[in-house]
Amino acid sequence: MKILVIGKSGQLAWELSQLSSTKHETLCLGRNDINLTEVSSVLEVLKNHNAEAVINASAYTAVDNAESDVESAYSLNAHAVENLAKACKTRFVPFIHISTDFVFHGDKGSPYLPDDDIQPLGVYGASKADGEQFITQTYPEHSAIIRTSWVYSIHGNNFVKTMLNLMSTKEELSIISDQIGSPTYATGLAQACLTSIENKLTGIHHYTDTGVASWFDFAIAIQSIGFELGLLDKKIPIKPILTSQYPTPAKRPHYSVLDKTSLMEALPQLPFIHWQTQLQLMMTALKAAQLKL
Ligand SMILES: NC(=O)c1ccc[n+]([C@@H]2O[C@H](COP(=O)([O-])OP(=O)(O)OC[C@H]3O[C@@H](n4cnc5c(N)ncnc54)[C@H](OP(=O)(O)O)[C@@H]3O)[C@@H](O)[C@H]2O)c1
Repeated sequence: MKILVIGKSGQLAWELSQLSSTKHETLCLGRNDINLTEVSSVLEVLKNHNAEAVINASAYTAVDNAESDVESAYSLNAHAVENLAKACKTRFVPFIHISTDFVFHGDKGSPYLPDDDIQPLGVYGASKADGEQFITQTYPEHSAIIRTSWVYSIHGNNFVKTMLNLMSTKEELSIISDQIGSPTYATGLAQACLTSIENKLTGIHHYTDTGVASWFDFAIAIQSIGFELGLLDKKIPIKPILTSQYPTPAKRPHYSVLDKTSLMEALPQLPFIHWQTQLQLMMTALKAAQLKL
């Protein structure tokens, strides 16, 4: 199957490009390869490449910047998604789209189900919610939306790499302990996207690594594994703080753990792995990549 991945330099797009498969040919398209603002242009790209499936790994993911760059956030997270859904429908091509835990408010107190009410707290979440809605209105018959959270990879910018950098340059850190979610290694998410296509998944589902953590728990684990692997040569004090002590332009959900049961049932062959195991794998891969340099 020829799969077009929208996005090239992003974490998920890169992981998709690394997944070797004898069954599929994967082509990643960056912003210079496709104009997502025009449905005719998207359609032409799908036609020229004979796409048999599309995975949208592109998004405006700068959560805080989105609060002031509203137009760009909606352009990529909502209108581009509508254009992709329309083009896929015209070509009768299956479409996998990635969304976020930030569509939820965060006050539920137990894991969010795919059909729970959405109530985004900021522009990023609201623009992603609009993207979801365009898909369910336009092309529900051959589309799937996979919501995920706290994504990291050895490629690109993310919390793990930021923490390693800060831990090697600062004397101490203060990290938020009252936001709870599930860290997710992008390799597993990439595999979930491919398995979804192979099994003609439709509807809204959740995929994250298993287990829950606060950003503080996540940082402690990063430091511990980083020190053990020699990515860090010292340990520094890490202090838990409240969200109220670290104001940001965008509000974030306090609790955004996603219930994955529907995906576990739809794709029983898909592995779901604990975030601590995945973090160890990612950081081992990061160490190996550093040794190659
Ligand atoms: N990161 C997280 O913690 C997180 C959490 C929950 C959900 N998600 C969702 O997971 C998905 C993947 O996230 P990620 O972390 O891999 O994102 P990322 O690393 O920030 O990458 C964003 C991608 O969007 C592409 N892009 C940006 N503007 C574009 C444009 N105008 N036209 C075409 N492509 C454009 C970039 O393409 P270029 O290659 O051209 O730069 C890049 O590949 C997104 O849908 C995101 O909302 C992420």
